[in-house]
Amino acid sequence: MQLTPELLKKSLSKVQDPDIKRDLVSLGMIQGIEIDGKKVRFTVVLTTPACPLKEVIKNNCLEVLEADFGKDYSWDIFMSAQVTTVRDAAPILPQVKNIVAIASGKGGVGKSTTSVNLAVALAELGAKVGLIDADISGPSIPTMFNVEGEQPAVKKEGDKNIIVPITQYGVKMMSIGFLTPTDSAVVWRGPMASSALRQFIADVEWGELDYLLIDLPPGTSDIHLTLVQTVPVTGAVIVTTPQKVALADATKGLSMFRQAQINVPILGVVENMAYFSPAELPDNKYYLFGKDGGKKLAEKYEVPFLGEIPIVQSIRESGDSGYPAVLKAGPTQNAYLKLAEEVARQIAIRNSSLDKTELVEIKL
Ligand SMILES: Nc1ncnc2c1ncn2[C@@H]1O[C@H](COP(=O)(O)OP(=O)(O)OP(=O)(O)O)[C@@H](O)[C@H]1O
Ligand SMILES: [Mg+2]
Repeated sequence: MQLTPELLKKSLSKVQDPDIKRDLVSLGMIQGIEIDGKKVRFTVVLTTPACPLKEVIKNNCLEVLEADFGKDYSWDIFMSAQVTTVRDAAPILPQVKNIVAIASGKGGVGKSTTSVNLAVALAELGAKVGLIDADISGPSIPTMFNVEGEQPAVKKEGDKNIIVPITQYGVKMMSIGFLTPTDSAVVWRGPMASSALRQFIADVEWGELDYLLIDLPPGTSDIHLTLVQTVPVTGAVIVTTPQKVALADATKGLSMFRQAQINVPILGVVENMAYFSPAELPDNKYYLFGKDGGKKLAEKYEVPFLGEIPIVQSIRESGDSGYPAVLKAGPTQNAYLKLAEEVARQIAIRNSSLDKTELVEIKL
């Protein structure tokens, strides 16, 4: 029997994307089929380069092909990715596929640290990533990226000024920290902060991005409302520590995105500072702030649990020195890469199962 692209597709239509739960062929994930005698090559286009199920999907393809066509073919399967989106070619950020808010209730739980490491991890895994520091009164991103004191270039486009974001570790970023002297205490009143955020979204040359992360200030402020009124947010990641007070505040953050007028899907909960492991006893875990608080919160609100990040001295030091912990090989790097895969995966699931987010238009 002569193998044809149609027969190949028929066979591969028995393989499902384990998350989206539809077959690879009807999802359009099988592309570039080339058949040369007994040599067959094709590409599986995944929903994200950070796909944790890459190997599983590849092996499932091989399994059905060998079952259907025997072992005398050689199968050359390329894995590539095209990040999915549910956004329209909207007037704002038309080339940005997914906008992800990083929020918490309580301050100091590690939103900025998580945002930075998540952004760099996604970029390391091959995605195009941007990061907005929306913490107008306490911008920490420039320090964490070691780009303090840098000044973004400004270009004229017609009569509009466009800011060129600073790029570091493969991530494009924008922070109020770039626009004010490092040591000045910036007191941005509500409306000024909101207009700065709008400017970061609309007047920065972001170009094509798979993921634009927004590191929010703590709590549920005007800035949160400005964000959801300026651009439809694909989903929100809630950061918490396992501590009771942090969890109570995380619940408020989560509920804010969930309320009917806002209706931003929750991608999941990250438990930061989940446990402490001393460097000399790496297998010992001490649950300083309680155990599994974030996991239980995720269960209670029926949202995905995205992962846990330990409390490690090097994470704090990396933040202060401007070289994110995810760039150094070791268990911390693995924890952040796993987190990035899980976030990317939940975005793909969200995009395949839910409608686009609507812009919040009402005054709340
Ligand atoms: N997993 C961790 N291990 C060790 N230190 C951490 C960890 N996560 C965060 N930190 C440290 O805790 C402090 C607060 O973190 P970070 O600034 O990321 O929190 P935040 O939630 O963004 O705070 P804010 O609410 O002020 O914006 C920083 O000094 C940071 O280096
Ligand atoms: Mg912060």
